[in-house]
Amino acid sequence: MNADVPVVRSELRGAIALVTIDNPPVNAASLAVRTELKTAIERLGNQPDVGAIVIACAGRTFTAGADIREFGKPLVPPILFETCAAIEACPKPVVAAVHGTALGGGFEIALASHARLMKRDARLGLPEVKIGQAPGAGGTQRLPRIIGLAKTIDVVTTGRMIAADEALSLGIVDQVVDNDVVDAALAHAQTLVGTRPTRTCDRQVPPFDQAEIDQVIKDVDKRARGQQSPGEAARLVLAAARMSVPEGVALEREVFARLVVSQQGQALRHIFLAERAAAKVDGLENAKPIDIRHVGVAGAGTMGAGIAVALADAGYKVTVVERDEAAVAAGRARIEGLYARLQKSGRLDEASLRERLSRVELAGTLQAFAPCDLVIEAVFDDLEVKRTLFGALSKIVRPDAILATNTSYLNPDFIADAATNPQRIIGMHFFAPANVMRLLEVVRMAQTSPDVLATALAVARKLRKLAIASGVCPGFIGNRIYAMYRRQCEYMLEEGAQPRDIDDAMESFGLPMGPFRVFDMSGLEIAWAQRKRLAPTRDPRERYVDIADQLCEQGHFGQKTGAGWYRYDNGVRSDHPLVRELIDKAVTRRGGERTTFTAEDIRIRLIAAMACEGAKILREGIAARASDIDLVFVNGYGWPSWLGGPMFQADQIGAKRILAEIEQMQTRDGPGWEADAVIVEAAQSRGPMFPAAL
Ligand code: COA
Repeated sequence: MNADVPVVRSELRGAIALVTIDNPPVNAASLAVRTELKTAIERLGNQPDVGAIVIACAGRTFTAGADIREFGKPLVPPILFETCAAIEACPKPVVAAVHGTALGGGFEIALASHARLMKRDARLGLPEVKIGQAPGAGGTQRLPRIIGLAKTIDVVTTGRMIAADEALSLGIVDQVVDNDVVDAALAHAQTLVGTRPTRTCDRQVPPFDQAEIDQVIKDVDKRARGQQSPGEAARLVLAAARMSVPEGVALEREVFARLVVSQQGQALRHIFLAERAAAKVDGLENAKPIDIRHVGVAGAGTMGAGIAVALADAGYKVTVVERDEAAVAAGRARIEGLYARLQKSGRLDEASLRERLSRVELAGTLQAFAPCDLVIEAVFDDLEVKRTLFGALSKIVRPDAILATNTSYLNPDFIADAATNPQRIIGMHFFAPANVMRLLEVVRMAQTSPDVLATALAVARKLRKLAIASGVCPGFIGNRIYAMYRRQCEYMLEEGAQPRDIDDAMESFGLPMGPFRVFDMSGLEIAWAQRKRLAPTRDPRERYVDIADQLCEQGHFGQKTGAGWYRYDNGVRSDHPLVRELIDKAVTRRGGERTTFTAEDIRIRLIAAMACEGAKILREGIAARASDIDLVFVNGYGWPSWLGGPMFQADQIGAKRILAEIEQMQTRDGPGWEADAVIVEAAQSRGPMFPAAL
C-alpha cells in the first residue's frame, strides 16, 4: 500500500459523518488504518456539525482484523486497542455497518462502537486462536458484557463465525439488514443524534455460575490438546468479570505479547499464510478451468466410496462404477454406511442425506461414465489394472473429459501413457477417509495441460479440500517423506529403542499418535506388500530392518488382528513380548550395542530425516515451497497446525543440529541420506533452511 494514499476517508452526509476504511484486499487494521481511523474519530467527535458517525468498509469485507504480516515485528502505536478506546470514548454515537466478515480486530472495532448493524449474509468472529493468539483489542472484555462469559468463551476458544440471526438473538447487533447496510446505518445513526452514546464498557458482565465456568475452562484446555491460545483466551474472558475494560485490555496486551513470540503463534501464522501461498500455482496464468458438473468414480472400495461421498457432499452428480452386480451392491452399502454414520452423529439430517444420496448413481458398466466431465479412478493400485482402465475410459468419455488417477505409489505417467490424450490426465491423490481428510495432492504429470490442472484445483476447492500441487516421484510429497520417517523409526528399534519410546516421544512433542500406534491402526500388511514388491530393486547397500516383515510373517497385522507392534486385548494396548524379542535379536545381530534415546534425540532424528527428504523434494521441484510440505503433514498426516509442520520444526531445531544428524545418518544408514546443499549452506550461514511463510 502506498503510504501517501489515505486508507480511511470521511465525508459528511448531513449531520452524519461516514468514515470508510479502504485497505484492500481485506481492510486489515494496519498501522495506517489504526492511525487514520483514530484521528478521524477524534476529529469528527469534536466537530460541532457532526451528530453521529458511521464506520463502514469499502470492498468485499469489513475489516478482517489485525494485519497478520505485522505480527512478530515491533508494533507501532497506535495499537488497535487505542483506536478502539477512542471509538468507545467518542462523545458522538458511533455505528458500525458490517458487511462480509468482521473478524478479530474488525469485530473489536464493531464492539467498541455504540451500535452495530450487519448485513444478513455477514459474519462476525474472533478467530485469533486459529493463528495462536487471543483477542487483543478488547474482544474478551466487551463481548462478555453483551453475551455473558460462557458464550464468549465458546466464541473465542473455537474461533467460530457468528451468523446474522445468532448475532441478533444474542443482542450483539441492533439490526440485521437485507439491503444496503451503509444506508441503514446512516438512517440508524440519524435516530441517535443528540443521544448519549451507550458504551459497552459501562455494562456489567451478566451473572454466572463460577463452578460451571471453571468446568468450561477445564474442558477448553482438554479439547485444545496442547495448543495454548484457547486456554489463554478463555482465562481472559473470565477476567472480564472482575475488572474494568481498561484493566482487562491491559491483561490482553500481556497475553498478546507472550503469544505473538511463542513458537505456536509463529507456527500457526506460518500455516495461515502457507495456505494462501499454496493456492498460487505456477504456470496457470492463462489457464481456463473446465466446468465440471458430473463426476465418475471407478471403484467403490473404501477410497472410492469416500471420494463419491465427498463429491456428492459438494453438490456434484456422481456415477460410481464397479465391476459386477455384487460389487455394485457392496459399494452402495459402503456409501450408504458412510452417510448413516454422519446421520447418527447428528452431522446430517434425513432430508440432506436423501438429497445427497439422490445425486449418486451406481452402475456395473464403464459405459455409464460416458456423460461424465471428470472420472476419478480408485481401483486396485496395480499398474496393468489402471492402464487397462484408462485405455478403455479414453474410448468411452468425451475427448475433453478429464481422467484422474488416485494412485498412491504407481508412476502416473505410465498410467497416462495408456490413454489416448495424456494432456487431460492428472493425479488426484486423496487421503483416507476421503470424505473427511482435507488434503488432496494434485499431481501434475509430464503432459498434463494447464487447463486440466486448473480444473482439478477448482474441483478441490469445491470439495473444500486443501490442494497441494505435486510433481511425479514415488509416493509424491507426503508418502515419500513419510517413508523416510518410517525407516528412521525402524532403525532406532534396531539400535535398542522400543516402539513405546518412540511413540511416547512423538506424542509428548505434540503428535496425536506416535508412529507405531499409527502403523498398528492402519494395518501393517500394505507396507509389507510394498516392501516385497520393491525388494528386487532395493540398493543392497541400503540399511534394511526386517522386524516389521517378521511380525507380518507371524500374522501381526496391527490392531484389527489383536497384535502388531503392540498387543491388543479388548482394545487395551500393551507391549508385546514378541516385539521385544525381535528387537533384542536385531540388536544382537547388529553387534549388540544399545543406544539410550531421550525423547529429544528421537524427535530431532525423525525431523532431520523428514527435512533431509524434504530438501530433495524441493530441489527436484516436486513441491513448490517448503510450506507446501508442512501443509501436507498438517492436513494429511495428523500433525497439529500449532506445530507448523516438519520443515518449520526443522528450522526451529536449527540447520546446524539437523545437518549433524543427517551426517550421522549418512555414515550409519548408507545411501539416500545425503544432506542437500540448502541444509549445508544454512548450517554455515546460520540462516533458515526453509524460510517460513511469515
Ligand atoms: N492480515 C493480513 N493479510 C490478510 C489478513 C490479515 N488479517 N487476512 C487475510 N489477509 C490476506 C491473505 O493473506 C490474502 O493475501 P494474498 O492475496 O496476498 O495471498 C488476502 O488477504 C485474501 O485472503 P484470503 O483468505 O485468500 O481471502 P478469502 O476471501 O478467502 O477470506 C477472510 C477472507 C478475511 C475470511 C480470511 O482471509 C481470514 O480468515 N483472514 C484472517 C482473519 C483473522 O484471523 N483475523 C484476526 C487477526 S488477529
